Amino acid sequence: MQPTPPAPGRRENMGQSAPRYEARAKVTGKPLYATDTPVAAPAYAVFVTSGIAKGRITKIDSAAARAVPGVIEIFTHENAPKRTALKHFAKGGYVSDSALPLGGPEILHDGQVVAMVVADSFEAAREAAYRIQIAYKAAKPSATFGSAGAETIALATASPRYKDKKAGDFDTGWSKAPVKIDAEYATPTQHHNPIELFSTTAVWNGDEVTIYEPTQFVYSTKYCVAEGLGIDPAKVRVINPFVGGAFGSKGMTQRTALVAGAARAVGRPVKLVVTRDQGFTVATYRAETRHHVRLGAARDGKLVAYGHEGWEVTSRYDDYSVSGTESSTEIYACPNIWTRVSKVKVDRNTPGFMRSPPEVPYMYALESAIDELAAALKMDPIELRRINDTMKSPVNGAPYTSRSLMKCFDEAAASFGWSKRDPAPMAMREGDWQVGYGCASAVYPTYMMAATARIRLGSDGKALVQVAAHDVGTGAYTAMQQIAAERLRLPLAAITVEMGDSSLPPGPVAGGSMTTASAGSAIHFACEKIAKRFGGAMPEGKALAAAFARLGVASVEDYAEYSPPGGGPEAVKALYKGQMGGAQGDPNEIKPLMFAMGANFVEVRVHRLTREIRVPRMTGAFAGGRIVNPRTARSQYLGGMIWGMSSALLEFTEIDEKRARYVNDNIADYLVSVNADIPKVDIIMVPEVDTKVNPLGVKGIGELANVGMPAAIANAVYHATGKRIRDLPITLDKLI
Ligand code: MOS
Repeated sequence: MQPTPPAPGRRENMGQSAPRYEARAKVTGKPLYATDTPVAAPAYAVFVTSGIAKGRITKIDSAAARAVPGVIEIFTHENAPKRTALKHFAKGGYVSDSALPLGGPEILHDGQVVAMVVADSFEAAREAAYRIQIAYKAAKPSATFGSAGAETIALATASPRYKDKKAGDFDTGWSKAPVKIDAEYATPTQHHNPIELFSTTAVWNGDEVTIYEPTQFVYSTKYCVAEGLGIDPAKVRVINPFVGGAFGSKGMTQRTALVAGAARAVGRPVKLVVTRDQGFTVATYRAETRHHVRLGAARDGKLVAYGHEGWEVTSRYDDYSVSGTESSTEIYACPNIWTRVSKVKVDRNTPGFMRSPPEVPYMYALESAIDELAAALKMDPIELRRINDTMKSPVNGAPYTSRSLMKCFDEAAASFGWSKRDPAPMAMREGDWQVGYGCASAVYPTYMMAATARIRLGSDGKALVQVAAHDVGTGAYTAMQQIAAERLRLPLAAITVEMGDSSLPPGPVAGGSMTTASAGSAIHFACEKIAKRFGGAMPEGKALAAAFARLGVASVEDYAEYSPPGGGPEAVKALYKGQMGGAQGDPNEIKPLMFAMGANFVEVRVHRLTREIRVPRMTGAFAGGRIVNPRTARSQYLGGMIWGMSSALLEFTEIDEKRARYVNDNIADYLVSVNADIPKVDIIMVPEVDTKVNPLGVKGIGELANVGMPAAIANAVYHATGKRIRDLPITLDKLI
């Protein structure tokens, strides 16, 4: 990795490259992750998880486990704390997997929680966990696509509110198209593996409980506990100011009420840390997908038909799906579009959000097909995209609020040196290495959620900004600090930011790349209210003290709410109840399209003999509206591209198809890129002004930069070798 380069000349609509708000605290070891928070006299919990994927527990023998010194209690489905089963969030509930831990003897998936030991020490709990004997009556599970018993259901059939996107007459367009690509693509199961393990600590004080747990949404976790245990939400507080990586895996939880109930039952605080391998089944994952893409074009490259059928794995009992055709159909002008998305139900835990959940698999398929089409047309793939660039929705004609896709391609291509590419496959070589250049579009919709914020400004010129948003490592503290500082006309150091605590005014889930836009907009409105007290314009420095003297107060405090378009007060109400959706407005209303976009470029080298694949350099150019902090934004883009590369070449969870079990459930066998894999990465931030998305003009960027990487690499591998790899990851065995 190269060091952070000196700040370039600031481009239009870019804020200050401020260092991280929490940088000093982090390098001095001050911030505490959830499970490190000291609590008095904790007991330690360890999970036992099932060794089969489908069937029933017939007998649990915990005598030997109970004999381990220090064991306090062993919870199984026979004596588990009483809880209400919560609905999956797709049905308006608070969990990402509706199987209630220790809810009964039925086994619904491998690695299901079947017992929880609570002991005086972690070692005693772990020892006892190993000594529990569980007998099962096992049934044959369905593991994945093609497994016996896997059940395929079209989303449109399963949910009447879901509509597959369509336009024009696909069949006619397809039959008449002179140039066609008809191909199938596949993406694998992947697990997030954030460095910070999943954990829950529950501490009761009378009838009030405090939860320390890594979460992307403290308000949701609060309701998860309150509803799960049937207690007043006012009695639940969730604290999590710092999250050690999440990527979607900590968006929702299912274990929290169990741990809280256990702590109440044993009369001690309880600390649970889920092991790395257990994390593969007690949290979510990116499900494997299959795609059938048909692209038809005229000889000039204009698309005339786009068909995309997608299949996604989900659990037997929940309805998680990503339906990435929602995004992929909006990217290129095309008169005739047909899509269908189906879920395939198998005996696994429920999948969930993982960085750009819909766009990563679906854009891999589309952007690979676009590259295949360019090759068939003998056209430069960038020019093919330019020919089909559009400022309105091909589906319903809605206008883009702003769109800079081709600007991103042009800047990235120039910096990358795309013009040096010989378009013929296998034409470029260096010694024993076959060299390939590839590129692909990255797209991510701009989402906002309701948010609220409270700001207190003192006559000393110091301000406190409070919002229960979350910093999952993204730089959210810094962005909130900057947004407030700019509007209150104060130096950054004068702003304290508090986040990640359900006693603060509610903020959005740290998902959908919407924290800056949503929580930032609430801060923006709170700052406006404060400014109004001073006549509309914030006085600075000594003038501020004088203004306070005139007001005759030592401090002022304001609270503001932001609700996204179509959300209204209902969305704020839903937010206060820890719900993600809120009011979405009329589904038939034609809403403007809001997308951040970018272009991923890579060079790959494939060894002539060993087929080893290396990526010596990558370039990304991205436009995401107002960039509050180019320094932290650059880190987001870097991380996204690096993960995207890792995702394309290394990451996949192997499934034992007979047993529906994950095989490589540890980070020795689940490969991610290490420093030696990471090349030179150039990040270009393309200026873009969007006055329509939200008051800040901010689009989300956290999930943008990885989207195009898998296709860019697949396209470069094709260019290097003449081999088109249509199933990820691209491993060397596929290039033999
Ligand atoms: Mo992100 S995958 O929307 O938590």
